Amino acid sequence: MQAIVFDEHGELDVLRHDEVPTPEPGPGEVRVAVEACSLNYHDVFTRRGMPGIRTPLPMIPGCDAAGVIDAVGDGVDGWSPGDAVLVDPVERTPDGRIRMIGDTKWGAYAEHVVVAASQLIARPEGISAIDASCLPVAYGTAHRMLFTRGQVTADDTVFVLGASGGVGTCCVLLAKLVGANVVAAAGSPEKCEALERLGADETVDYSTTDIAAFTRERTGSLFAGGGWDVVVNFTGGDTWAKTIKMVKMGGRLLTCGATIGYDPPTDLRFIWTAEMDIRGSNGWQRSDLESLLAMVGDGRLQPVVDRVLPLSDGVEAMRLLEERRFFGKLVIAP
Ligand SMILES: NC(=O)c1ccc[n+]([C@@H]2O[C@H](COP(=O)([O-])OP(=O)(O)OC[C@H]3O[C@@H](n4cnc5c(N)ncnc54)[C@H](OP(=O)(O)O)[C@@H]3O)[C@@H](O)[C@H]2O)c1
Repeated sequence: MQAIVFDEHGELDVLRHDEVPTPEPGPGEVRVAVEACSLNYHDVFTRRGMPGIRTPLPMIPGCDAAGVIDAVGDGVDGWSPGDAVLVDPVERTPDGRIRMIGDTKWGAYAEHVVVAASQLIARPEGISAIDASCLPVAYGTAHRMLFTRGQVTADDTVFVLGASGGVGTCCVLLAKLVGANVVAAAGSPEKCEALERLGADETVDYSTTDIAAFTRERTGSLFAGGGWDVVVNFTGGDTWAKTIKMVKMGGRLLTCGATIGYDPPTDLRFIWTAEMDIRGSNGWQRSDLESLLAMVGDGRLQPVVDRVLPLSDGVEAMRLLEERRFFGKLVIAP
């Protein structure tokens, strides 16, 4: 089969579009003909190599697969070739281990991907593979972070940093869906305009505006009720200490990642003075994916797709992701 593959960790030049053996499903597994795979920043981390995670090589990236079952292994009940599916990227084994496609198992920048039958979710008629492929990693994580961990409601003003990417655009959409007021920060005027079209109540271009000063200006001093109820920061690095200063008294600072640095300087004085909650959120549960599919199915949620590229342009797709030349989700359609 055709796939995007790498044999060693590194930058973009380790990726190649190549022919690899088509994987066969073992007992309890199925093979999915991939119709769409959306990209995530996680794919960049996997390609570069992440401390603490051993990636078997060669590796095919790609965590978010939607398609049609084309082969079924022994002992699989209830699934047949031709069934339209969305794949939950994570396999939770009975002995408590977690394995993820595009991370510790071959992923879906490929014509086929083999997954455990337990990872399958039926894809309702009317939900395209492209829309479905946007959901698991980015949207699933945003859903859990905002609602299960963040308890965001219509009473909140939510500030989203990194709002133009996969997790970020979904945070904007979901926070608006529950009626929250949303302030979205992105790295260019064009991305800010796109966020306004998506429904953000206000935007700020953080490449030209200091977001902590912007917060003080818009909401007043922290000691006089200023700051946002909820601040979302999965960028980390030097943005962390800034966002610590933007949380209202008793507010929540939510994080699910660290795109530019996981051990940033912080400012403890603001954490205790504002009595803020810093809430981590990791991944999604199956119920998050089912809720999201239902929202797409009844039209409440429309995933934001920047563009769809053929598998042969998979390396180019990852370049667009890393160079931040996209809005929402990039999708590969093998
Ligand atoms: N814990 C989990 O389960 C989980 C799940 C999903 C994602 N995550 C993490 O959440 C973060 C976002 O993931 P994503 O897939 O939404 O990423 P993405 O689509 O690439 O979006 C990230 C956004 O961050 C902004 N950004 C600022 N500085 C950046 C830099 N130096 N490099 C790249 N982007 C930069 C960019 O927006 P501007 O161009 O507007 O600045 C970009 O659109 C990642 O760190 C990811 O690993 C964690």
